[in-house]
Amino acid sequence: MLSHSDWYNFVERLIRLFHERDALTAMLIARMTPTEFGAVARLIEMQNANPATQCLHSGEHAGEIEAVFQKQPALQYVIAQEDGAVVGALGCEVEDGRGYLQGPFVDGADFAITAAALWNALQKQAPLPDRCDAFLNIENQRGATFYLSLGFKRGQGAQVYVLPATALPALDGPPAHRFTPQCSDGVRALHALAFPDNPLAIDAFMDPDDEDHRLFVCGDNQRCVGYVAASINDSPREGYIDLLAVDAAVRNQGYGRRLLLTAAHWLITEKGMPQVGLTVRDMRADARRLYQRSGFQLLYTGVGYSRENGVGRRNDRQT
Ligand SMILES: CC(C)(COP(=O)(O)OP(=O)(O)OC[C@H]1O[C@@H](n2cnc3c(N)ncnc32)[C@H](O)[C@@H]1OP(=O)(O)O)[C@@H](O)C(=O)NCCC(=O)NCCS
Repeated sequence: MLSHSDWYNFVERLIRLFHERDALTAMLIARMTPTEFGAVARLIEMQNANPATQCLHSGEHAGEIEAVFQKQPALQYVIAQEDGAVVGALGCEVEDGRGYLQGPFVDGADFAITAAALWNALQKQAPLPDRCDAFLNIENQRGATFYLSLGFKRGQGAQVYVLPATALPALDGPPAHRFTPQCSDGVRALHALAFPDNPLAIDAFMDPDDEDHRLFVCGDNQRCVGYVAASINDSPREGYIDLLAVDAAVRNQGYGRRLLLTAAHWLITEKGMPQVGLTVRDMRADARRLYQRSGFQLLYTGVGYSRENGVGRRNDRQT
């Protein structure tokens, strides 16, 4: 025999199911095609302008986001449309066997229903890698609830900093040297100690013919004691400091600042970048002090969410 409250819950559930069915029947979920590039880029620009809906590292300006859609086949999006208008989008970029999620971005439709439908569609489109990461503005509560409900685990906080070209400090000593293959072993050994979660990340910077990636090193009696890895980003269009580390035995002697400023000068003065960005985890207090002292300004605070084979792990994309 059903009690009054059981009946009430049953009827409420039925009503909710009808609402969800209505919302979904009016909505078209599909893979993004070039026809929708512009509309999706505008949706992302609008959502990323608001901390409560912002997904970090997914672009800020519609023109730049659209250019990335054109040139990056590894970035796949699914979209939600109502009456021909794009009301939702969720993307995933697969890199080195890991999936970096962008979104969910939803405007003008129920967030929970649309985000769930986009997630299902993204998985149907192609199997997602075992390890998936999302990086949201700390104020994006609805995004956090979404990923936690899917079994993602909340990782550490991380700060996004930017150095505008106009604030570039002068190099107060000789610049660091450009990487040469003789330093490979030394750089790899330093990198493995400083970033044990991401041991292969350094290899992408060792190709001397790659104009968009560069590695600089500092030496002490022929020994490599520090390195910085920098690259050119398309969206936002900026230089980026990907990795920076100094041997623990020679810290607090100015190597870190020299490496950082050498990379910033290459990006701004030589490559013409309007600014230099970087992301640093909460726990790296030494690095944060160095960046602030070198003219970098805090732009956003974010939180990583990760899932691996259904088991949560912390986000480690940040330097
Ligand atoms: C972050 C890191 C690269 C800094 O390297 P570093 O060589 O120690 O950096 P610097 O020497 O330029 O600056 C560090 C401090 O030494 C001080 N310093 C520099 N030269 C000095 C000198 N000759 N005498 C005394 N102090 C000096 C600086 O003023 C600075 O002080 P502060 O922290 O109070 O601002 C280093 O700590 C590191 O490798 N950490 C682990 C990896 C990491 O966190 N990487 C960054 C990821 S985002």
